[in-house]
Amino acid sequence: MSFSGNPRRKRNAFVSLFFATSFIPSVSCLPDHSRTASPHSIAKRSTNETLPYQDASLCIDERVEDLLQRMTLEEKAGQLFHTQIQIGPNGTLDTGNVTARRNSTENMVGEKHMTHFNLLGDVEDVRTNAEWYNRLQERALSTRLGIPITLSSDPRHAFTENIGTGFAANQFSQWPESLGLAALRDPELVQKFAEIAREEYMAIGIRSALHPQIDLTTEPRWARIANTMGEDANLTSQLVVAYLKGFQGEEIGAHSVTTVTKHFPGGGPMENGEDSHFTYGKNATYPGHNFEYHLIPFKAAIAAGARQMMPYYSRPIGTEYDEVGFSFNKGIITDLLRGELGFDGIVCSDWGLITDTVIRGQDMPARAWGVEYLSELKRAARILQAGVDQFGGEQRPELIVELVNTGVITEERLDTSIRRLLREKFVLGLFENPFVDVDAAVQTVGNPYFRRLGNETQRKAYTLLTNNNDILPLKNTANMTFYVEGIDPSYLEARDLHITTTPSEATLALVRLQAPYEPRPGGFEAAYHAGSLEYNATEKARQAAIYSAVPSIVDIYLDRPAAIPEIAESAAALLANFGAGPDAFLDVVFGVGGTEPMGKLPFDLPRSMEAVEASLEDVPFDTLDPVFRFGNGLRYKETC
Ligand SMILES: *[C@@H]1O[C@H](CO)[C@@H](O)[C@H](O)[C@H]1NC(C)=O
Ligand SMILES: *[C@@H]1O[C@H](CO)[C@@H](O)[C@H](O)[C@H]1NC(C)=O
Ligand SMILES: *[C@@H]1O[C@H](CO)[C@@H](O)[C@H](O)[C@H]1NC(C)=O
Ligand SMILES: *[C@@H]1O[C@H](CO)[C@@H](O)[C@H](O)[C@H]1NC(C)=O
Ligand SMILES: *[C@@H]1O[C@H](CO)[C@@H](O)[C@H](O)[C@H]1NC(C)=O
Ligand SMILES: *[C@@H]1O[C@H](CO)[C@@H](O)[C@H](O)[C@H]1NC(C)=O
Ligand SMILES: *[C@@H]1O[C@H](CO)[C@@H](O)[C@H](O)[C@H]1NC(C)=O
Ligand SMILES: *[C@@H]1O[C@H](CO)[C@@H](O)[C@H](O)[C@H]1NC(C)=O
Ligand SMILES: *[C@@H]1O[C@H](CO)[C@@H](O)[C@H](O)[C@H]1NC(C)=O
Repeated sequence: MSFSGNPRRKRNAFVSLFFATSFIPSVSCLPDHSRTASPHSIAKRSTNETLPYQDASLCIDERVEDLLQRMTLEEKAGQLFHTQIQIGPNGTLDTGNVTARRNSTENMVGEKHMTHFNLLGDVEDVRTNAEWYNRLQERALSTRLGIPITLSSDPRHAFTENIGTGFAANQFSQWPESLGLAALRDPELVQKFAEIAREEYMAIGIRSALHPQIDLTTEPRWARIANTMGEDANLTSQLVVAYLKGFQGEEIGAHSVTTVTKHFPGGGPMENGEDSHFTYGKNATYPGHNFEYHLIPFKAAIAAGARQMMPYYSRPIGTEYDEVGFSFNKGIITDLLRGELGFDGIVCSDWGLITDTVIRGQDMPARAWGVEYLSELKRAARILQAGVDQFGGEQRPELIVELVNTGVITEERLDTSIRRLLREKFVLGLFENPFVDVDAAVQTVGNPYFRRLGNETQRKAYTLLTNNNDILPLKNTANMTFYVEGIDPSYLEARDLHITTTPSEATLALVRLQAPYEPRPGGFEAAYHAGSLEYNATEKARQAAIYSAVPSIVDIYLDRPAAIPEIAESAAALLANFGAGPDAFLDVVFGVGGTEPMGKLPFDLPRSMEAVEASLEDVPFDTLDPVFRFGNGLRYKETC
């Protein structure tokens, strides 16, 4: 440990303040671990003098050690939990809801000593959000040690609306999903996006991004592809570096949003394409012996200074590793991630590995895959023993206290993780300034510049797959009549375009589609698009009737790589988007102001479900005879 400033002076201030009534050492500068302040003796600050951990002139290591040795076991245990928080009415602190099994903010901050939370729900009103955040920090600062809150979030800058994976942009600037950034293959743009997202996050107090998601999408059926950067390890590796730089800055600091890169060691190779939130999707599988491929972007992220890492729920089948969920897996976390790959940052588990719960009315067993038989207590121990620092989506500090009190886990083991967690708060400058400027937040979030760049990127990320006779961009539209689907007709009416309700009366059809999926039941599960990548026979026939009646411009939102050879055959033009509003779509179709699609596919589009089923979950680009390939994407014909 090194000291900045004059350690003797600092220590004397500390000593005179806190040892005055107990123990005055005869030496003026104590070795670090010899301080014996009773943690309970410092509760009331009778003067405004600064404690060493509050003193910004000391080096961070010293502040961490000072704070650590003041903490009770209960206070330490609280740091190990990172769970959902939501805003109460009018920006008040949430008082909880017993029916919804939601504990109050007061319970979590005041009694459980928790200081890490992920913000749930859309940002409806920036001022309210910012005021709530300041209220939350005030409550945290009024605790015994005044450890500030670190607020995190799943992505909030695109279109995904799924309580488990991301929130629609609402007040934030709105961009395509990260797949759309990948389609543009432009690290500078990715960095720009990340810088803007950082500004908007920081404005309302979000200091930790529960992303980037750099799983390689070698299994096209997986329900979590939209928030990745696609199938190619090199492209993802290149872009993740820019992404981290944008959120964190050149050096992590008070200007940074820290990042949680996920999901180690790659969540892509899901058995049968199912997702491991659910009991039927526990397995990650490697029939192509391609485990290493999935590590490539993680290596790039680590080299680029990734601060935190989140392992996925899945358990690896048929590898050298134990067949238990990645966060329970010492071989994965300690040997591979920390040992071989040299990652020394924070490892935070994915949400809900210990406690059974209910999400959106749906029973969700703890995702303790491969160790379902263990008690909650033993699951917690196993996760710590694997080398994980923090439990996501859980609030069970009493388990940790019990593990230490019964000698299963040593306090030194906790301290290893707590040092990392506290250090991050110091690095982010949260102890110096935990509050946000509410007026500045209102000015910053969703400002016209940020929104304009988001809007432009939605348009540019469009990927043009077919364009028969260069029909796009549409010209001479004054006498055309449009049949439209998947877009509110008012958007066309606002452009003085004529609408008809039957394809046969139209000059042209504009059809906006969701990629195919098979609806799943349940309030939570329904948000995960899974199953077949083909439209069913009824839907194919319905669409075919349109395509045969009228030349059709088809726009498909690819949250997964759809198998749509029939559309490629019969549409006059086929566009893919990765999250784009109706106006973005129309601007692209009509080439408004020179708008044109510039994306290139970030994955292959398979020919059929049969081809997908015959391909290997862990191997990229291996479906038979794909309709379009990674990198496909036409441009509009140059005029004049
Ligand atoms: C501590 O600071 C506050 C506000 O800065 C001031 O009102 C108060 O008198 C100070 N207390 C002591 C004991 O110096
Ligand atoms: C929120 O504030 C509005 C306006 O001040 C007030 O009318 C309303 O009752 C408040 N709602 C709650 C739940 O406190
Ligand atoms: C509490 O949660 C239940 C179940 O989600 C919900 O029906 C109810 O409206 C909530 N109560 C309040 C006061 O929000
Ligand atoms: C609320 O806190 C209690 C007491 O720690 C705990 O048993 C319960 O699991 C918590 N509820 C949720 C939804 O985490
Ligand atoms: C990825 O990059 C490596 C090293 O630069 C190169 O050898 C390999 O061919 C690239 N792979 C692809 C698919 O571009
Ligand atoms: C996962 O793999 C195990 C071991 O091969 C197998 O027994 C199980 O049926 C597979 N599927 C699920 C959903 O666990
Ligand atoms: C961005 O697009 C949205 C939706 O079309 C629109 O309401 C907004 O005015 C646009 N903002 C800017 C600055 O371009
Ligand atoms: C539209 O139709 C009218 C009448 O049929 C015709 O005079 C006009 O030239 C047409 N305009 C275009 C742009 O084709
Ligand atoms: C076929 O797909 C359509 C559109 O996705 C859906 O509404 C319909 O229920 C499906 N039919 C069957 C038989 O699955």
